Parts: sequence; structure tokens; C-alpha cells
Amino acid sequence: MLTIEQLGDIKGKRILVRVDFNVPLKDGQIRDDNRIIQALPTIKFLTSRGAKVVLLSHLGKIKHKDGPEAVMAQMKKNSLEPVAVRLKELLKTPVVFCPLTTGEEVDYFVRTLEDGETLLLENTRFEPGETKNDLELAQKWANNIDIFVMEAFGTAHRAHASTYGIPSILKQEGKKVAVGYLVEKEVNNLMRCVDVNPSDRPYIAILGGLKVSDKIKVIDKLLEKCDKILIGGAMAYTFQKALGKTVGISPVEDDQLAYAKACYEKAKGRIILPIDSVSTDAFMNWSKKITTKDANIPDEFEGMDIGPKTIALFQKEMKNAKMIFWNGPMGVFEQEDFALGTIAVCEAVNKLEDVFSVAGGGDSAAAVSEFGFMNSFSHVSTGGGAALTMIENEGLLPGLEILK
Ligand code: 3PG
Repeated sequence: MLTIEQLGDIKGKRILVRVDFNVPLKDGQIRDDNRIIQALPTIKFLTSRGAKVVLLSHLGKIKHKDGPEAVMAQMKKNSLEPVAVRLKELLKTPVVFCPLTTGEEVDYFVRTLEDGETLLLENTRFEPGETKNDLELAQKWANNIDIFVMEAFGTAHRAHASTYGIPSILKQEGKKVAVGYLVEKEVNNLMRCVDVNPSDRPYIAILGGLKVSDKIKVIDKLLEKCDKILIGGAMAYTFQKALGKTVGISPVEDDQLAYAKACYEKAKGRIILPIDSVSTDAFMNWSKKITTKDANIPDEFEGMDIGPKTIALFQKEMKNAKMIFWNGPMGVFEQEDFALGTIAVCEAVNKLEDVFSVAGGGDSAAAVSEFGFMNSFSHVSTGGGAALTMIENEGLLPGLEILK
């Protein structure tokens, strides 16, 4: 894949950069601007060399099958306008925001951009054709563009009009397509977790989060690649139930019990499950909190975090690791009482020397940032689904394959 530094003279060129500004918003306020910060070096590189930069991103999900009123409300909630404001503050240069995604006005904005200027168009998902990789839509965005740069690592597992359609059209037109600095960094770091060097062993994966069903492919793949997999978070309860433990009212995917049992047996001792838990009588507004003495959770109780014995066990397993891949929190870390397990993983990584450690995006990356451990990891991915898909698919993502 071509990098932005290999593009040659880009002065005056109109460069369309697909970024992933799908940032968490609450009441119109950005709660974590890391994805914007991570795209800055590429934007600065291009604008400082006189390129005219057009940024495209999605934000949230728009359900176009809902009625027009519902769609309008979703659009209002998912406007990229707050992102444009933050981007302008971070870049310290003007950013033109176009409140439309396609049409004559957009074309006018694109055509009249000056060298070194940055334009952000409104949310790509306002267009129903975006998620369907509609080539007519992609062609509208590709008009007037000289070069495409893929910088949306977090969306590279989606073959959408803006991630896949545009580069395929521009390639056919003989135009250049390239990857930005963030995508380069993500691919280099995550590929190390895919193509494992003997010197990176023991390789330990730590998985958490809610559903086993979301992670079947990744568990199977990690079993091929890793020395051990430590499983915490709510998905551990499906494994526990499958192995005959009591799980109280903890969330369990009953349709995954057979898979969990077979997977655990196949792993032959390489899957490590919690041996105690912090449990409560309700998920919210709970009144009783207990630490169980073993992996069994009493009736009427719900597991909320891994317990102290499990923390010690997981930290012992991590101690000799040369490489760690982590995806998914160990407990309900958004509630202070159940954040200890997730913090313990961060602390264990922080203490390790000579380890290559990757937090694979999503909630685990949010936890790393919230608890102040960003510098303790070798790499914190901006892509949750994309990072997992890279592991599952031996490094292949549609949004990157099309650039080759
Ligand atoms: C993400 O946050 O994982 C990416 O931005 C992709 O978003 P999506 O899951 O809505 O496609």
C-alpha cells in the first residue's frame, strides 16, 4: 500500500481523506476525542504541503428504514458539527464544515477549496447508500477528487461506499489511493499480534465484554495463535455455566453453551477462567454486594467483576508474557465498584517490562484512557471491531485490501 509520504507533489491536489470520527457524544459534547487527535498528523502533513483536504466520516448509526421523523432525530443527534468545532481547536487552523453530504453545494465547497484548507462534510451515513456500498453515491464523492487517503482504521472492516466504493472508483480512473499515518501504525502493531514471532512468546490474550457469540471467531483464532487466553467480563459466565458452575442471574448466552464447553475442552487448559467474582443482587441500584469464594455465583446474584483471587491469578499469568492482546473489560467498569478487575489488567501491563502490549479498541481502549494508562501500552487501537476482524481474518480488512 502506498503511504502519504510516497504521494509525491501534492500541492493543489484535492485529497479525500476517509477518517473515523465516530466519537462518543453525550448531549452534543465529545466524551473522548482520541480518534480526532489520532488523525491530526495525516491532516497536517497533507495541508502543510498545500493539498486541499476533504474529510469524510460516519458518526453513529442511522436507521433509514425508520420513519422520516425518526431519521431526522437520528441525524440531529449524529451531526458531525461538534467534531468540526473540536477539529478546528486541535488543528489551530480554520476548518470549513459543510452541513451536507452530497449535492451541488458540496461540489461547490470542494471545488472552491484553497490550497492547504480543510473541509469536513456531514456524516456519510446520512446517505442510505453508504452502508450498501452504493457506487453511484461513491461516484458523487469521487468527483473532483485527485487522491484518496484511508485513515479510518476503525471502519476498515466495513466495505461501505466511502471506505470501499470511492477507492475502487478512483483506482479505475488511474488515480492514487494511499494510507495515512494512523492506518500505517495500526496495521504494523496489530500485524505483530497476527503473525507471531517466536520471540513474542508467551503470547497471552485477555478477552472480556458481554457476548461469547460476538467473539467466537476471534477466540478460535486466538487459540491457534496464543499460548493462553484469560477470559473475564460477562462472557465468562457462559463458559462457567457450560462447565457446570452456578451463575445466579448473570447474563448467559444459552445458545453458546455447547460451543463454550467444546472450546474450553479443545483448549486443553489454555483458557483460564475466573475463580471468584464480585456479585450483586441487581445490575443497577443494587443493595447487596458479595465476593464469592469460588467461581460459583449464588442464586439471585449477578457477576459484576472478577474477584481478588482471579485478579491475582490473571496477574500471575501475565507476568512472563512477551506479548499481550487485550479486548473487552473484566467487569462493569463504568460503575466504580466494579472497575477493579479492569484496572488490575492495566496495572499488570504497566508493571511489565519488555512486553509488547496491545489494547484492541472499543471498551478496553476507553478504560485504558479513563484510568490513565494510555502510555503503559505499546499500542492502543482506535478500532474495536476492526482490530478483532484483523485477528480473525489474518490481517485482511476490506477497506485496506482495496488499496493494494
Ligand atoms: C467503530 O466505532 O467501531 C467504527 O467507527 C465502526 O462503526 P460501526 O460499528 O457503526 O460500523
